[in-house]
Amino acid sequence: MKYIRESMGNDLRPVRGTRDILDEEILRFERILDATRRVSALYGFEPLSTPILEFTEVFKRTLGDASDIVTKEMYTFDDRGGESLTLRPEFTAGVARAFISNGLAQRAPIKLYSHGPLFRYERPQKGRYRQFHQINIEILGTAEPGADVEAITVGAHILDTLGILGKTKLEINSLGDSASRDAYRAALVKYFSGFKNDLSAESKIRLEKNPLRILDSKDPSDKKIVADAPALGEHYSEDAKRFFDTVQEGLTASGVAYTVNPRIVRGLDYYCHTAFEFTTDLLGAQNAVLGGGRYDGLIEQMGGPKTPAVGFAAGIERLALLLDEGKNHARPIAIIPIGAAAEKKAYALARSLRDKKIRVELGFGGNAGKRMKRAAKRNTRAAVIFGDDELASKSYKIKQFDTGKEHTVPADMLAEALSDDTGS
Ligand code: HAM
Repeated sequence: MKYIRESMGNDLRPVRGTRDILDEEILRFERILDATRRVSALYGFEPLSTPILEFTEVFKRTLGDASDIVTKEMYTFDDRGGESLTLRPEFTAGVARAFISNGLAQRAPIKLYSHGPLFRYERPQKGRYRQFHQINIEILGTAEPGADVEAITVGAHILDTLGILGKTKLEINSLGDSASRDAYRAALVKYFSGFKNDLSAESKIRLEKNPLRILDSKDPSDKKIVADAPALGEHYSEDAKRFFDTVQEGLTASGVAYTVNPRIVRGLDYYCHTAFEFTTDLLGAQNAVLGGGRYDGLIEQMGGPKTPAVGFAAGIERLALLLDEGKNHARPIAIIPIGAAAEKKAYALARSLRDKKIRVELGFGGNAGKRMKRAAKRNTRAAVIFGDDELASKSYKIKQFDTGKEHTVPADMLAEALSDDTGS
């Protein structure tokens, strides 16, 4: 027989950029999800789960024809029925689609929280994967700057609850309203056209499609040209200026520290007004931990009712890298029955201890010696040993693994004796 492993010729490794998540890391993931669930509920967010697959159109136009995601990172394929589908590269467009599909405009403003896997065909490195996970927050149906303040505040609150706010800094910017953007766009096209021959190939395309994106180019010669580019701030309309001022006042009043960075333009086309990022110095090149902003036109662009909205997403892998060592689960106890009668009793005993919140390993068969060895491997703190004698005298023998000490307790004192143990 030829094993699958041989025919794949790659040692059964997972697909490049995807990973199995286990041990300490999955516990960190769970801590992050727990904290997000708890904190977002305090602000009135409701959970929403959307499909991992969407029609390609959902992302293609909304994220921007010139965006990195659409031009080179989407996992897009035709299914057997000939429909073009895409594995979601982000949540926002799918949440906007769900808002329309489910008629959620009736319940607007509505606050939604999601989490799950996303897919981007990027070059894998520390903190950057092809399958990664986000927590995602959206406030849909309000044009008030207070919603931007709340979105940023809930982000800061989640980071604070995880104990990592101090490892990040918050940078905000305003991309202005459409009037400001049109004026700025024209100014940028004028400026960059003067350097057309010196721009990178990618930025030449951006000049046609979305000149704003040239501002966050990583190309060294682009960067030099960008240094003297006109600033968006000079082109804000009165409304855009007032909106940004109000957001900043709200952040200050909420006790959220920030700096204004005019270079935060974000990589997706749907943003307007507020754009923000929590970044860190601790993760090398992948320094963005949490990013988001306002997207007032997206839902209308998709064919839904005019619905201004704001939100953010944070990469769970990146949050997990910043977390301190967590508390491990309490060590379990093992049940070691000796003889047929004890063997039968073991199941009910395990259940009654688990009902009292004690972690129990049953060991599944074999003689007492084998079970003791297996228990030691599972980092067990104590074993409950019993056979016919103990059943007759309604008692259990407890053996502490760390000290090797043994003592006998009456059956009705067992749970108490085990919870008293320092390991729990
Ligand atoms: P984004 O900036 O593309 O925004 O992604 C948000 C966060 O996801 C990043 O700051 C990073 O922590 C994480 N992330 C992105 N790509 C990867 C990757 N390949 N590997 C690991 N982590 C990654 C959005 O996705 C917007 N939808 C956020 C938003 C929500 N805006 C409004 N509402």
